[in-house]
Amino acid sequence: MNNVRERDLATPASTNPERVDIEIDGMPATVRAGTSILRAARENGVDIPKLCATDSLQPFGSCRMCLVEVEGRNGYPASCTTPVEPGMKIRTQTGALARLRRNVMELYISDHPLDCLTCSANGDCELQDMAGSVGLRDVRYGFEGENHLDEGVDASNPYFQFDGSKCIVCSRCVRACDETQGTFALTIEGRGFASKVSASIGEDFLDSECVSCGACVQACPTATLMEKSIVEHGQPDHSIVTTCAYCGVGCSFKAEMKGDQLVRMTPYKDGQANHGHSCVKGRFAWGYASHRDRVTQPMIRDDVKDPWRAVSWEEAIEFAAERFRDIQDKHGRKSVGGITSSRCTNEEVYVVQKLVRAAFGNNNVDTCARVCHSPTGYGLKTTLGTSAGTQPFDSVMDADVIMVIGANPTEAHPVFASQMKRRLRQGAKLIVVDPRQIGLVRSPHVEAEHHLALQPGTNVPVINALAHVIVAENLADEDYVRDRCDLDSWDAWRAMILREENSPESVAAISGVDADTIRAAARLYGSAQNAAIYYGLGVTEHSQGSTMVMGMANLAMATGNLGRSGVGVNPLRGQNNVQGSCDMGSFPHELAGYRPVADAEVRTQFEQHWGVAIDPEPGFRIPNMFDAACAGDFKGMYIQGEDLAQSDPNTQHVEEALSSMECVVVQDLFLNETAKFAHVFLPGTSFLEKDGTFINAERRINRVRPVIPPAQGKDEWRITQELAQALGYDMDYSSAAEIMDEIAKLTPTFSNVSFAFLDEVGSVQWPCNDAAPMGTPIMHVDAFVRGKGLFVETDYVPTEERTSRKFPLLLTTGRILSQYNVGAQTRRTPNNAWYGEDLLEIHPSDAEMRGINEGDLVSLTSRKGDITLKATVTDKVQPGVVYTTFHNPETGANVVTTEYSDWATNCPEYKVTAVQVAPAMRRSSWQENFEKRARETTRVADA
Ligand code: SF4
Ligand code: SF4
Ligand code: SF4
Ligand code: FES
Repeated sequence: MNNVRERDLATPASTNPERVDIEIDGMPATVRAGTSILRAARENGVDIPKLCATDSLQPFGSCRMCLVEVEGRNGYPASCTTPVEPGMKIRTQTGALARLRRNVMELYISDHPLDCLTCSANGDCELQDMAGSVGLRDVRYGFEGENHLDEGVDASNPYFQFDGSKCIVCSRCVRACDETQGTFALTIEGRGFASKVSASIGEDFLDSECVSCGACVQACPTATLMEKSIVEHGQPDHSIVTTCAYCGVGCSFKAEMKGDQLVRMTPYKDGQANHGHSCVKGRFAWGYASHRDRVTQPMIRDDVKDPWRAVSWEEAIEFAAERFRDIQDKHGRKSVGGITSSRCTNEEVYVVQKLVRAAFGNNNVDTCARVCHSPTGYGLKTTLGTSAGTQPFDSVMDADVIMVIGANPTEAHPVFASQMKRRLRQGAKLIVVDPRQIGLVRSPHVEAEHHLALQPGTNVPVINALAHVIVAENLADEDYVRDRCDLDSWDAWRAMILREENSPESVAAISGVDADTIRAAARLYGSAQNAAIYYGLGVTEHSQGSTMVMGMANLAMATGNLGRSGVGVNPLRGQNNVQGSCDMGSFPHELAGYRPVADAEVRTQFEQHWGVAIDPEPGFRIPNMFDAACAGDFKGMYIQGEDLAQSDPNTQHVEEALSSMECVVVQDLFLNETAKFAHVFLPGTSFLEKDGTFINAERRINRVRPVIPPAQGKDEWRITQELAQALGYDMDYSSAAEIMDEIAKLTPTFSNVSFAFLDEVGSVQWPCNDAAPMGTPIMHVDAFVRGKGLFVETDYVPTEERTSRKFPLLLTTGRILSQYNVGAQTRRTPNNAWYGEDLLEIHPSDAEMRGINEGDLVSLTSRKGDITLKATVTDKVQPGVVYTTFHNPETGANVVTTEYSDWATNCPEYKVTAVQVAPAMRRSSWQENFEKRARETTRVADA
């Protein structure tokens, strides 16, 4: 448990290693060169008053509260903008300074509503604190003159308000939006007395460029910018540090509590992934945890056509166990399986895969990472030796060239995007490889040097062409390759990459990116001191997803861009714990730590600890489970926190598979789409109720701490444990910490990890073991984990999904900032204010050809099915390409996606579907059935 307020050292820390001796109020002090006098004083326990300064922002020098005297200098310099110098003698408390500060404060207060006692910031207001600190007792100027007391309140943002009457025009909000967030949404409008804060050009916050990250609210020293939850509930009295449960950035937050009520989530300054920044989801969109739709009682039903019946935990667990036992008796040991969730903690995931292997007695376990980043695991393991990204996020600050491929960080990984934009504003160059004009291509003060707007499905030829130019123009780092890589594989790859079919000219014809642009991008990447690749699902969710991951690793090895800060190949993971769910042994062929289940030595280790024999044969992947279900051979599934019916491709096939099972157990917060096919519903816990760990995209193991007790009365790992016990396997943990202890014992890359260690150090990046006791921020430093880096030939094999006269457009999918994946959480928050429904982006020329206008209802038809949704006409997409999100179940975006998948991992090819778009008069039959079925299958019987 922490204090709510963190100490503010007023200006950012200096990074200069040199030390400087100074004297503050007669006391000797030593600080880093480049430190401001204000920070130097605060570091030494002397709190000079300040208003416009805060340690997350560059000093500004506008409020004049921090004046000091420096021996040998005239006047009263502002201590926030004056760096220390050797031998400086500083006085912070003199009669003259006290008078000056009181006068300044008097002017502020004379234009400020004197409602401190009833103000929502009472107790957490720097203006109030400073008035006390300078000893202001009297204000000589009345309120008769001109003032700002009648400025209105802008409450348009769902989460915070702006009360102009309380603004002291310190610009902290403007600087936070510029420096921390990089959106540049705020300005100070007008001059002198008339100056005031304005969101974009006179708009209210909701309609402005503001992305609701909360940085300005955090920076505001008064009640001007204030969370509505604080206005409603009052100031918090304690806080607990935990981790955001949305994306793979893994931001640390202080959950600020008033008694047992959560009143605010504040990004944690010491959070090693986010350094005190946040996005709208983690900062504000946590209300789903107490949404009225949340199910808190276990439910069962004999048939999916029956209404649900609320029962006790014992009855629900016994019901599930009996069904699983019966199925196995009738259809064999391998007729059941389980799915782990990348939204759950490592500890919760670990017990589910153990349940499958130890209690079901097979390896039919898979994870939702199958449908997102499984090619990352395969591709990086094959080439480099580890199924994970190579760098910490902070490494981007050392990159000179940043290549973003198939990722949209400002929407999907916003806090990292802000950091990346900071580096780009410092002068790093950007290459974007994406069919769409994503936000990074052009935003305030950031512009991509090259945008390779390729046709969906042509990543592999483009990466090959980039490599072709680099090798052909001698930009490869042959010394690095000779020293670090397998030379036979290099020779073979080099010969392949130099083939004419991989030249920019040949690839231009396939990808639609002109040869000059490919050449220029290759030269920029190939000649950089430090070049880093960041990529997302636009790489992996293709029939050649694994090939492309290996293509990027080849390129990075060929140019020596692996093994130090500022470089690397970095997957931006979609969900909070994708990395962890994979690490925990969720794949059917691997136990925790990616160790093959077929390896007798590995199995023996687990068997000795678990006291049970483990099947040596790898189990089914998710698509195999569905196929086997449709064939009548797979009959039972335990699904932890994943909405398969909405998130997996080819919805009709998924629904057919789920409908053919005899026992579907769904463990989730809400009755999701998959629950329509379920026989048992086991209510889960929100991240606010969990005790455990998440692992973010940089392999960082972060603690998730319970803030409130489980709403349904039970930790999720206990539910799984009780099911295992009911099936006859004696799983017997008494805490989540104990589960982590077992993980550490059985997983060499985690051997030094424990809750106690994480509580002590904050977080750590795996491998964390005796060889790396404090973790491993950068992988492959002296050598690759696999020994020599392996170049893999990456021949281009076009996807079988092709456009035709009937389906002339290519559909690609993605997500937006305010919503998250299938929307189960964010759709139950006020985030809907920004985006209520999935829209189809279509280029103006394609729209005109079809008579489609902005906002029209259109049909989207593929070889698999058809849906309807509204169109938005935009040149963010190129002609021939349409784009949509998949956040609303009613849209059914996956009704149209195909069964094609990555050749190595079966990751679905969500990013390429041939479609036709036409104006529509009515909703598709799938959508009409959707509502009818939803009503029928989610009925709950009266108690
Ligand atoms: S809104 Fe707050 S941070 Fe912004 S200028 Fe006004 S007082 Fe300062
Ligand atoms: S919430 Fe974020 S984006 Fe919006 S104005 Fe504040 S700092 Fe800028
Ligand atoms: S960037 Fe990701 S982890 Fe951070 S607050 Fe936003 S959703 Fe949460
Ligand atoms: S804190 Fe130094 S001028 Fe405002």
